[in-house]
Amino acid sequence: MTSFITDMRRSGNGLLLRITIIAAIGGLLFGYDTGVISGALLYIKGDLHAGKFAQQAIVSTLLLGAVIGAVLSGYLADAISRKWTKVLSGSLYVVGALGCAFAVNVPMLIGFRFLLGISVGTASFVAPLYISEVSPPRVRGGLVSFNQLAVTAGILIAYIVDFLLKGVDNNWRWMLGVAVIPGAALAVGMLTVPHTPRWLAEHGRDDEARKVLQRLRSDDPDADVDEELEEIKKASREERGTRTKDLARPQIRPLLVVGIGLAVFQQFVGINTVIYYAPTILSQTGLSASSSITQTVFVGITNVVFTTVAVLLLDRLGRRKLLLTGTVGLTLSLILLGIYFTSSTVQHQAGYVALLALLIYIASFAIGLGPVFWLMISEIYPTGIKSKAMAASTVANWGANFLVAATFLSLASAISREGTFFLYAGISIIAFAFFAAKVPETKDRSLEDIQNDLAAGRDEEGNGQDAATTEGQRHARHNHDLTGK
Ligand code: GLC
Repeated sequence: MTSFITDMRRSGNGLLLRITIIAAIGGLLFGYDTGVISGALLYIKGDLHAGKFAQQAIVSTLLLGAVIGAVLSGYLADAISRKWTKVLSGSLYVVGALGCAFAVNVPMLIGFRFLLGISVGTASFVAPLYISEVSPPRVRGGLVSFNQLAVTAGILIAYIVDFLLKGVDNNWRWMLGVAVIPGAALAVGMLTVPHTPRWLAEHGRDDEARKVLQRLRSDDPDADVDEELEEIKKASREERGTRTKDLARPQIRPLLVVGIGLAVFQQFVGINTVIYYAPTILSQTGLSASSSITQTVFVGITNVVFTTVAVLLLDRLGRRKLLLTGTVGLTLSLILLGIYFTSSTVQHQAGYVALLALLIYIASFAIGLGPVFWLMISEIYPTGIKSKAMAASTVANWGANFLVAATFLSLASAISREGTFFLYAGISIIAFAFFAAKVPETKDRSLEDIQNDLAAGRDEEGNGQDAATTEGQRHARHNHDLTGK
């Protein structure tokens, strides 16, 4: 577990850590909103006379906004740079948070939630993109997943803010308004960081790209800045002038299947319904006398702790092991939750089962699917098409998030709560089979291995070799060259 820290000391430096932390504030915004809204809604509905439909709209317009944000940011990240897209995202978040805090009626709140969604969708995508493009390969998994750690920290902070503001006047306005702070921190912080070397090289600004790489790798004895820049330039030449329609190219299709599959499964295992409904599930165990909001904080802490474990292990154990182990944990815990709600005997005699299942569920998500999706989509796509392909995967993730949020309550009343958990368990089993068959290991794999896996579908059609070079492949080659293995 110390290996990430040791590698970070060897290959990272103060600048790299500082800009990773600033970029990861994007994750914090995204997590804060996910965590804050269920608590705030309890007070909004009384204050603004919001009925069921309006409440649903207040929650879900953010998700729709995020879909749009993800679409837009695919273009923006290329056109105005990763850095300026993040400045824009932080600024929009400030406007959205202020608008929500001062909303005088439901339509105004919904409008600003939509704006906030655009910012969140943008941030969720550009943060992993930015971090992956400044990280050295050895610690890339941990650094990119730092963003997911910030997402979970955002959720936890939101739970704590909800808890602290329970008895305060106009508390929902404060809950939503406090988000101005991380929004402003992101916008201002991003003004102080460099552009990514990849974006600079793609725009012909090679000298600047070299300077940034030199600063980023200054403490790494193994770094060969010229070689890294050459590889970036080569990949960007190969991919120059790609368009959105190139996403359908036979070389890219198998990669998109992996990215979009991960995106959709990450949401279809029901993570956000568990995050929203954890207090309800917990309060029904009869185990704890403390308030549901306090217990929810506990769920938030488990999420942060196990995401930290993932950050430390991803570059050591690899992505696949954690993803597959986590998905087994998800399946078992969902089956346990289903059994708990099916059997009144279990409910009476083993009330702790629900709590146990919930904690295993959160820990399993945090150690695998949570960080691995965001990490993989920053690794598997070739540079030139990367931001568009990542944006497409992010759009699928927010779209699936929206679908789950929009169907959970009706599902639970149509097929019962236990039925819903069994359904999510079934989806986790399919997800496991998909991951086992399709998701490649991007850590320490040789170029040829990854390429063969990803292009398998195309090879069967006999269309010859893939001209694209994925970032994972380049990094693998880089490692290969460095270690001589
Ligand atoms: C991931 C998911 C997000 C979820 C979070 C929970 O980032 O994409 O939807 O809320 O994990 O930790």
